Amino acid sequence: MKRIIFATSNEGKMKEIRLIMADSGYEVVSLKEAGISADIEENGTTFEENAIIKASAIAKLTGELAMADDSGLEVDYMDKAPGIYSARFLGEDTSYDIKNNYILDKLKDVPQEQRSARFVCAIALADADGKAITKRATIEGYIGYEIRGENGFGYDPIFMVPEYDKTTAELSIEEKNQISHRAKALKAMKEEFLNNV
Ligand code: IMP
Repeated sequence: MKRIIFATSNEGKMKEIRLIMADSGYEVVSLKEAGISADIEENGTTFEENAIIKASAIAKLTGELAMADDSGLEVDYMDKAPGIYSARFLGEDTSYDIKNNYILDKLKDVPQEQRSARFVCAIALADADGKAITKRATIEGYIGYEIRGENGFGYDPIFMVPEYDKTTAELSIEEKNQISHRAKALKAMKEEFLNNV
């Protein structure tokens, strides 16, 4: 089976990605599984740029097809922060409990109609010759009023999905994979490009 190295060391993301790519005809392996340890500096200014930087670096390093995602949370009331800085927000090593409570605090007493937010994901697929393509998708929701749910990772416990009246941390991985930014971007990549490479 042809394989793709997915340039992430985030196990939460990898879990979702493996399920979505299960029927892609490709074996998708993480950096760790491929035996690669690479520290790639994400110095792009958009989700797309950062995804391309990560995927291209791994494709060049290995000579294999590589994929990467760059994703994040945009909170409209905070001028779309943390955005591309979502992982680094308040410091890379700061716990998500602290990050999530900081955002809840910022939005204390802010009415529902001003709590809109979205997760954004850009997926890049790159080959060793330096060719890269991207797909972007979002999921719209709002910032909840408290930490809720145990599933998922990152900002999931404060991100409310209106259609479910639940946070993405209260959805099962299968439910999240029906609607998430990452799932939609990966599915688009799978359908449009992977059959042709
Ligand atoms: P990246 O690894 O640079 O793409 O960092 C993305 C960061 O955005 C993650 O570490 C999370 O903080 C946040 N994020 C992206 N997607 C999700 C999601 O599906 N749920 C919760 N947080 C997410």
